[in-house]
Amino acid sequence: MVDALAPDPCDTVVELGCGTGANHGRVRDRVGPAGRYVGVDFSPGVLAVARERDPQGSFVRADATRPPVRPGGADACCAAFVSGMLPDPAAAVRTWADLVGPGGRLALLDLARTTRPGWRALNPGFRLFVRAGSPPGTAAALRRSPTAVLDRRVAAAHRELREGCTDVTAGTLAGGFARVSAGTVR
Ligand SMILES: C[S@@+](CC[C@H](N)C(=O)[O-])C[C@H]1O[C@@H](n2cnc3c(N)ncnc32)[C@H](O)[C@@H]1O
Repeated sequence: MVDALAPDPCDTVVELGCGTGANHGRVRDRVGPAGRYVGVDFSPGVLAVARERDPQGSFVRADATRPPVRPGGADACCAAFVSGMLPDPAAAVRTWADLVGPGGRLALLDLARTTRPGWRALNPGFRLFVRAGSPPGTAAALRRSPTAVLDRRVAAAHRELREGCTDVTAGTLAGGFARVSAGTVR
C-alpha cells in the first residue's frame, strides 16, 4: 500500500485506522526525516502499542471518518484494512480526498473475497476467517453475513477512490484476497 501511495520525501502522510502502527516505519522510510507521519485510530489500546513502538511518532485518537486534520492539511492519506469496518466507506474516502485536496495521494489496502477463478475455492475459508474475527453478534447486528457486508464496503471504498482520482493503480495480491488501490485526487 505504501509503495502504491508513493508519497514524496517531505510529505505529510495521514494513516486512517493506523492500529498498532504497523505501517508507520514504511511510511517514514518514504517521507524521510523532513516528512511527517500521523496515525489516527479511535482505539486507545492499539494507540498505546503504537506509541510504545515509536515514542517520537504522532498517533492521534480520533474517528477516522472525521479526522482532526484541516482540508489540505495532508499530502497523502492511506488506510489498511479499515474500509470494511466503516458503515459508509465511500463517504470516508471522499473525506480523505478533501484532506489531501487536488493533487494529493490516496491509497487503500483491504481484504475481501477473491474473484480470481483459481482461488475462489478458498472463499468459504475466507468467510470462516471473517466470521471468526468478528465480535459476537456481528451477523445479527448487520442482518447479513459479515463477509457480504465486508465485500460490499470494500468495493464501495475502492470504487470511490477510482472515481475521484486520476493516475489510478488498482491491483490484487494474495490470490485476489487483498486489494490495493491508489491514485491522485482530481
Ligand atoms: C484491522 S485494523 C488495521 C490496523 C492497521 N491499519 C494495520 O494495517 O495494521 C483496523 C483499525 O481501524 C481502526 N478503526 C476502525 N474504524 C475506525 C474509525 N471509525 N476511526 C478510527 N479508527 C478506526 C480500529 O480501531 C483498528 O485499529
